[in-house]
Amino acid sequence: MLDIQKIRADFPILTQKVNGKPLVYFDNGATTQKPQVVIDAIAKYYQEINANIHRGVHTLSQLATDAYEESRKKIQNHINAKFAHEVLFTSGTTHGINAVTNGFASILKPGDEILVSALEHHSNIVPWQMLCERTGAILRVIPMNTDGELIMAEYDKLLSDKTKVVTVNHISNALGTINPVKYMIDKAHEVGAAVLIDGAQAVPHLKPDVQELDCDFYVFSGHKLCGPTGTGVLYGKEEWLNKLPPYQGGGEMIKEVTFEKTTYAELPHKFEAGTPNIAGGIALGTAVDYMNEVGFDNIQQQEKELLEYGTQQLLTIEGLKIYGTAKEKTSVISFNIEGIHPYDIGTIIDKLGIAVRTGHHCAQPIMNFFEITGTIRASFAFYNTKEEIDSLVAAVKRAQNMLA
Ligand code: ALA
Repeated sequence: MLDIQKIRADFPILTQKVNGKPLVYFDNGATTQKPQVVIDAIAKYYQEINANIHRGVHTLSQLATDAYEESRKKIQNHINAKFAHEVLFTSGTTHGINAVTNGFASILKPGDEILVSALEHHSNIVPWQMLCERTGAILRVIPMNTDGELIMAEYDKLLSDKTKVVTVNHISNALGTINPVKYMIDKAHEVGAAVLIDGAQAVPHLKPDVQELDCDFYVFSGHKLCGPTGTGVLYGKEEWLNKLPPYQGGGEMIKEVTFEKTTYAELPHKFEAGTPNIAGGIALGTAVDYMNEVGFDNIQQQEKELLEYGTQQLLTIEGLKIYGTAKEKTSVISFNIEGIHPYDIGTIIDKLGIAVRTGHHCAQPIMNFFEITGTIRASFAFYNTKEEIDSLVAAVKRAQNMLA
């Protein structure tokens, strides 16, 4: 069992007051808070070893390069990638997905099909639509049911020899559904399709094993697992990363440049043009260490309790409806209260110190499916407590009375 008070002491922001009230931070789906060790890692880089990486022979440059590459290895071990060069640093999930869709522009032909799930965030829809516009490929949607679960019988029917890519999130940001990605990957491989898993909402809750999953690509953002914003990872199987063209051209990603022709560097550098977010990349390694020290079994246990308690308590509120009731779901509760706009609730409870996200959560197709404009989303992390849920429930009730 986690000692939550001890864990909370690792996060300086959690002792803050917001609008004169103790902060209750339930917007972890948008970004998680940062432990002191991560904040320190950023400061330490700038205070002690700030230099550009992979370039200088001087000592600081080598120290910075070693720290950055050490972080890549930590992430490799964390996700169980076969090679460190299959772990590419990005600025976040969106960057990773766009690097892949850009690569597929040179592979797809008109009439090829891309399967995207009904549960996606816009960042895993729009880049594929742009790819379809460029190539003449066709986007097909894997539908969901009213619990917010993808319908596997429909997925099986959509798969064919035309399917070249399947793209799906591991966990839905808007509803919290955990998707059966292992099944989906295996089925896609039977028809020869590549699979991208958007792990942005999964990595705060679980440790993905990319070799066991056998996914072709796995993308995530650092800031969702207690790391800095502007960091992320694109994991790709070596074979795919060698096959896809680079995303951006520039320094670092070349072997040789002449005005006649440029040859590209080996992995991972081929996909890492320009000076990266060095401090962020290093601190992401620190965040991964931190999460592993807390332990994903402990994280899951705490979040399961919060999800169960939060669901029970919120359902005591009259007129409250939860969207996303999948059997397999993580600690996200999306809800509405009859007759009240989610934004109004969000604004009032902010005055009481409670941070939730309101709106469509960058997942408009999900909102359209439920015929709503948005929800109030409380997304819990392992450092949250049942007492904070009590504050949320009391605040929502107060807002409801005010707006009635
Ligand atoms: N994708 C993030 C969220 O769900 C920003 O809030």
